Parts: sequence; C-alpha cells; structure tokens
Amino acid sequence: MSATETFVHRFVPGESKRTLLVLHGTGGNEDDLLPVARMLDPESALLSPRGKVLENGAPRFFRRLREGVFDEEDLVRRAHELADFVAAAVKEHALDAAQVVAVGYSNGANIASAMMLLRPEILRGAVLLRGQTPLVPEKLPDLSGKGVFLSSGKFDPIIGAENAAALAEMLRKAGADVTHKLLPSGHELTRVDIDDAREWLARFS
Ligand code: MLT
Repeated sequence: MSATETFVHRFVPGESKRTLLVLHGTGGNEDDLLPVARMLDPESALLSPRGKVLENGAPRFFRRLREGVFDEEDLVRRAHELADFVAAAVKEHALDAAQVVAVGYSNGANIASAMMLLRPEILRGAVLLRGQTPLVPEKLPDLSGKGVFLSSGKFDPIIGAENAAALAEMLRKAGADVTHKLLPSGHELTRVDIDDAREWLARFS
C-alpha cells in the first residue's frame, strides 16, 4: 500500500503552487467541501482526505468522548497520521511543500489546528471555519511566518466564543499572523465565511 492510500481521498490538480488541504466536518466526506475550496481559490490543487474515525457511522478526523471533549491521545496520533499522509501526497504529486494551506470546517478545522501545533512544518497556513481549541501542547511551536484565518459564529451552540478566542490567542502567541472574525451566525457555514476566507486567502501568499 502506498503512503497516500492510507486515507480515502480526492486529489484535484491545480494551476498554481498552492495546495488546499480540505478537511470536512463530522459526518462529511472527501467530496463535501471541494466546491467550497474551489470558491476559495480557483487555481490551487485540492487534497481532500476522509476522516477515518466513525462515530455512529459518521466520519471524523479523531475520536471524542462527547461533544466538545476530545480523546487527546487519539487526536495526537491522528494529527501525526494526517501530517504523514500530506507529506506523502506532496511527494507523490510533486507539490510545493511550502504552499500547503488547510481549509477545515468544524472537526476538520480542529484537526488542522492540532496539526499546525504538533507538525508545523506541514502547513503554511490554515482557514479554520468554526474551529475551537483542539489541545494545548506542552511547548508552543514556532509559527512565525504562518497565517491563520479563524471564522467563528457568535451564536454557535457547539463552540463557545471564549474557546475560539483562546485558540486565536494561542496561535498568535506561537507567532502566527491570526485574523479572527466573529460572525452573527451559528455553527453552520455561511456565504460571509466563504467571502471573507476567499479575500483572506487572496492576500495570503
Ligand atoms: C469536534 O468534535 O471536532 C467539534 O465538536 C466539532 C464537531 O465536529 O461537531
């Protein structure tokens, strides 16, 4: 089995040096966010894996004990496994390893920020749509030069505003350039999320 066969995934070649690592939310799959990712950047390559953990049949990227309470041991293991998959895909498709930007929604945003905290060399930046603090590492990595766009919903019943703010603060403390938007919406993705993320990505090079 080749290293990229470790995840069911889609790969769509692009016309620029950038690759968007597309990470779905709980119950989604590798096809879900491809149209959104295309709206965010019409030219980048797209790499979209399916989370391997099943919660009552719903794919996720790591186990949780209940809503908002993560199985940290599993999360750490899965973040490394996903990072290894991305590194293998970069090699296989001759992608620019320095231009991989994650685009994650909800559970996908959470594995993306865990990866950034644990394997910072894999990602140049991340668009975290409805992300929350996935874990607090023993030692903060050096995220200088990296960019993060975090988009939160003021009325999100799953993610408290303080939790998202704490994530933004931790990433900033690690040196990342963080843009945090708080929208008047819930956990669902809105048109404004997409427009704001597209503008942010267009400026991020
Ligand atoms: C998570 O479990 O990662 C978050 O609670 C978001 C979700 O997937 O519902």
